[in-house]
Amino acid sequence: MKIGILSSGGDCPGINATIRGVGKTAINDYGMEVIGIQNGFSGLLYKDISALTESSLSGILTMGGTILGTAREKEFRKILKSPDKKDQEVIKKSYKELDLDCLVCIGGNGTQKTTWALSKLGLNVIGIPKTIDNDVFGTDITFGFSTAVDIATEAIDRLHSTASSHQRVMVIELMGHHAGWITLYAGMAGGADVILLPELGYNMDTIIEVLNNRKKNGKPYSIVAVAEGIEVEGGTDGHHPATYFAREIEKRTGIESRETVLGYIQRGGSPSAHDRNLGTMLGGYAAKLIAEKKFGRMVSVKGQKITDVSLEEVAGKLRIVKPDDPMVLQGKRMGISFGIK
Ligand code: F6P
Repeated sequence: MKIGILSSGGDCPGINATIRGVGKTAINDYGMEVIGIQNGFSGLLYKDISALTESSLSGILTMGGTILGTAREKEFRKILKSPDKKDQEVIKKSYKELDLDCLVCIGGNGTQKTTWALSKLGLNVIGIPKTIDNDVFGTDITFGFSTAVDIATEAIDRLHSTASSHQRVMVIELMGHHAGWITLYAGMAGGADVILLPELGYNMDTIIEVLNNRKKNGKPYSIVAVAEGIEVEGGTDGHHPATYFAREIEKRTGIESRETVLGYIQRGGSPSAHDRNLGTMLGGYAAKLIAEKKFGRMVSVKGQKITDVSLEEVAGKLRIVKPDDPMVLQGKRMGISFGIK
């Protein structure tokens, strides 16, 4: 069999480990031919490819980013949505001309939706979920998340000493798009005092009361972890949510406050051991699905098990933090504030 691998959407640590996992398993265990498709789905359209071999797949396990490049795919999605069926024939033609038996698409929610659309066009496809946001529906975890949480936790750890020295409130904004997973996990691991998630919303009076009470009880400094996706009442006037909260907190508590927006540092660099192994295992499982000709599936993690789900079931959905998530409940039991009553 001949298979193609592409990565699409925002990059994250562990994509190369996954490409290697798919590629080396396909070559060694199944005798398949493997090609890499450059820069996401547009590489499929323009047949921008390179051979992936034992040697080209060596030395990439520890590398951040993706050796195949990635893109946000606006143009490709437009073609897929076009009412002119001729446009979609171009995609099918490219796939045929590349002589592929299957296309492996590594990406987040948007990518899985696109992969399902390709499946509906009649292409043999397999999706592998990736994102630091951990918000892909149909899997308990995505690779990239653990590394991002480690980085975000280290950042919060470092804020503690400066917050304490200056008796300030430090607000740190973490990534996650519409989901609060990174903020929840890093906030808990870093010992944040207030954790603000898009899924739970917030009440400013509650936050102020919590911070004032901490000061009254001999804790003059506080750490507030806020997810970038939180909806701020009345908008943020072009500022980051962290800036809004720091200003509002300082104004209403009188405690000096500062913001940190961690940004793309969460997405860059070498994957954690957990993400390397997760990518490797998911990649190997994808190769097995292809060998068994089980197409139209997304590789997924359920509990301790690697399994697969139908792309149809996953497409267009989001996995977000539920108010009764065990981590949220445990935080509440310990007196950590989620900014709500
Ligand atoms: O999905 C990963 C992510 O880093 C989100 O956390 C963030 O909202 C978004 O991508 C940023 O997107 P872009 O790479 O297009 O700036």
